[in-house]
Amino acid sequence: MKSTYLVTGGAGFIGSCFVLQRVKAGDNVINLDKLTYSGNLENLDEIKNAPNHVFVRGDIGDEQLVIELLEKYQPDAVVNFAAESHVDRSILDPDVFVKTNVLGTEVLLRVVKDWWKNLEEEKRNKFRFHHISTDEVFGTLSMDDPAFTEDTPFAPNSPYSASKASSDHFVRAYHETYGLPTVITNCSNNYGPRQFPEKLIPLMTLNALAGKALPIYGTGENIRDWLHVEDHCDAIYEVL
Ligand SMILES: NC(=O)c1ccc[n+]([C@@H]2O[C@H](COP(=O)([O-])OP(=O)(O)OC[C@H]3O[C@@H](n4cnc5c(N)ncnc54)[C@H](O)[C@@H]3O)[C@@H](O)[C@H]2O)c1
Repeated sequence: MKSTYLVTGGAGFIGSCFVLQRVKAGDNVINLDKLTYSGNLENLDEIKNAPNHVFVRGDIGDEQLVIELLEKYQPDAVVNFAAESHVDRSILDPDVFVKTNVLGTEVLLRVVKDWWKNLEEEKRNKFRFHHISTDEVFGTLSMDDPAFTEDTPFAPNSPYSASKASSDHFVRAYHETYGLPTVITNCSNNYGPRQFPEKLIPLMTLNALAGKALPIYGTGENIRDWLHVEDHCDAIYEVL
């Protein structure tokens, strides 16, 4: 059965992959994206004439706009990719990370909850709010550490991961307090097409091609786990 998704941040790296997959599969997608420096409409070129994709430029913290979209399109799920996503930028300017990742997510949750609670029962029971988070909320791994699991305690180390951990807590709290049907997935680092070149793999690739230095944190012994963006988006769909 075809579904209708309100996707936020769907012009970014991972969100655009999810939007392309769902639109090509015939689902309806309303794509709300602020188009910050990392959002790029060219990521959506393949579906620019698709009748089942609606792009809306706007902020997840704009409650009036989100209310209008929910009432107009009546989505079966909200999938929240929108975020400030780059650790280095969060070290230079944490405020915008709090604004979008914490406050923006909370506004989105509140508006969705107020709309959701008045849905008729069947639609209300089937609805999902899927929040895309990161394994960085669990901290870092050393060589001999076991892998993170869903039960690993939170230990965010950067303003970015602290803001994502905070948004995860709000998503959980909206489920516990109001019964909003929420899902959180905490994926590891993604790689693949359409990634903004400030991130590790495209940055290393471009620097290597240009014969420039390859910058890494620390001594290079940190463990990173890599997930192809299409596998990640398949998994989000499975979870949903
Ligand atoms: N890239 C990774 O390796 C990775 C790993 C784990 C988790 N994540 C999470 O996945 C999600 C997507 O990451 P990404 O790599 O695609 O990021 P990205 O920076 O490429 O895309 C983020 C998108 O969100 C939009 N956006 C930013 N602020 C907004 C706002 N206030 N309102 C509406 N739209 C806004 C941007 O314009 C952009 O299109 C994020 O929540 C991130 O924390 C990413």
